[in-house]
Amino acid sequence: MALNKARLDKFLAQHCQISRKNVRLMLAQNRVLINGAVAHDIDEIIDNFSHISLDGKVLQDNSAYYIMLHKPTGVVSATKDLQHKTVIDLLEFPYKNELHIVGRLDLNTSGLVLMTNDSRWSERLTLPEKKVTKRYIVTLANKLSEEYVTAFANGMYFAFEDITTKPAKLTILSDYQAQVELVEGRYHQIKRMFGRFRNPVVALHRCAIGNLVLDNQLTVGESRELSEIEVNNIDINNLPLDA
Ligand code: URA
Repeated sequence: MALNKARLDKFLAQHCQISRKNVRLMLAQNRVLINGAVAHDIDEIIDNFSHISLDGKVLQDNSAYYIMLHKPTGVVSATKDLQHKTVIDLLEFPYKNELHIVGRLDLNTSGLVLMTNDSRWSERLTLPEKKVTKRYIVTLANKLSEEYVTAFANGMYFAFEDITTKPAKLTILSDYQAQVELVEGRYHQIKRMFGRFRNPVVALHRCAIGNLVLDNQLTVGESRELSEIEVNNIDINNLPLDA
């Protein structure tokens, strides 16, 4: 759901078909509650997830949903697809068709995928300037070397988009395996970065987004709702690139 913001007086005037003067009166009489608290301010900004009631009658009640999925390979990060099963097809929540995907994974990439109907939250997680880290485990066809660490940290120029990738942290785990942390999500970014070394990616798995770690908590194909704490803390003090 795209986030629509509005002033409280505009919302009430439209919803109740009354003048703004009468809205003032309503507020002065403590008849309006926003998220359970008495509203006093006509300028208050509300959005589509604000719970609004008048004289105990609910005027707006939209729930925000936040889901994590352990995506298998072979499933497409899309809401509809004619050829492949989609990440939405794997969910069993009754509201699943209201959700959008927060940062797609390629068909043959596995791991953590987030879905929500709250576009404010998805923007918070996907804008490069917010620097929310996405952590991947990458298995490669050829041996790694220290050169990769420097190249990832320096960023790589992608002529097609005319951008240089933001500093990425590559940690060598073994001859053929690395952990990579990115703060952005360019098209096929990891495969293209290893492509510079002519080193094909054999397997790619996203194990964390910000503070939310997949670990062993979900088996492949499983999903669950996030807790309020997970939703709020996913990008708090998330600075692993400097760690
Ligand atoms: N980089 C890729 O190349 N593919 C993904 O699915 C995610 C990051």
